[in-house]
Amino acid sequence: FNILVLHGPNLNLLGTREPKHYGRATLADINQALKDLAQAHQLTTFQSNAEYQLIERIHAAREEHVDFIIINPAAFTHTSVALRDALSAVTIPFIEVHLSNVHAREPFRQHSYFSDLAVGVISGLGAQGYLLALQAALAMLRDKNA
Ligand code: DQA
Repeated sequence: FNILVLHGPNLNLLGTREPKHYGRATLADINQALKDLAQAHQLTTFQSNAEYQLIERIHAAREEHVDFIIINPAAFTHTSVALRDALSAVTIPFIEVHLSNVHAREPFRQHSYFSDLAVGVISGLGAQGYLLALQAALAMLRDKNA
């Protein structure tokens, strides 16, 4: 299968960024753990601080026949109708991941523009959340293709 993992703004700072909320793993650590778990499947990772670049990457995913997207939209979770519309337009199933438990934080983090479109949402399990999302995605794709 072909899986795309998208990381939104400020996630390039993981490792040093507010470890109380986001843990000590770096983005490179997370991407490597995902690649290890993906084994023979194609897994591409992409991080951007720019909404426009994330939208362009989602559009490209359709041309590349990406089967599944795992996305941590970071702060765009709470602000971006444009990113939501991009995911809706390409009709690629996706799981929304947050390192922190957004429901245990400021009220403005409790609304997501993505959750009602997502296959599922993982929040508060740290870097492990990405690996759980990948496991779930692979299992779903296997079932669908069985
Ligand atoms: C986040 C939660 C968001 O509210 C925040 O803006 C982030 C990271 C998380 O992974 O916990 O940048 O998506």
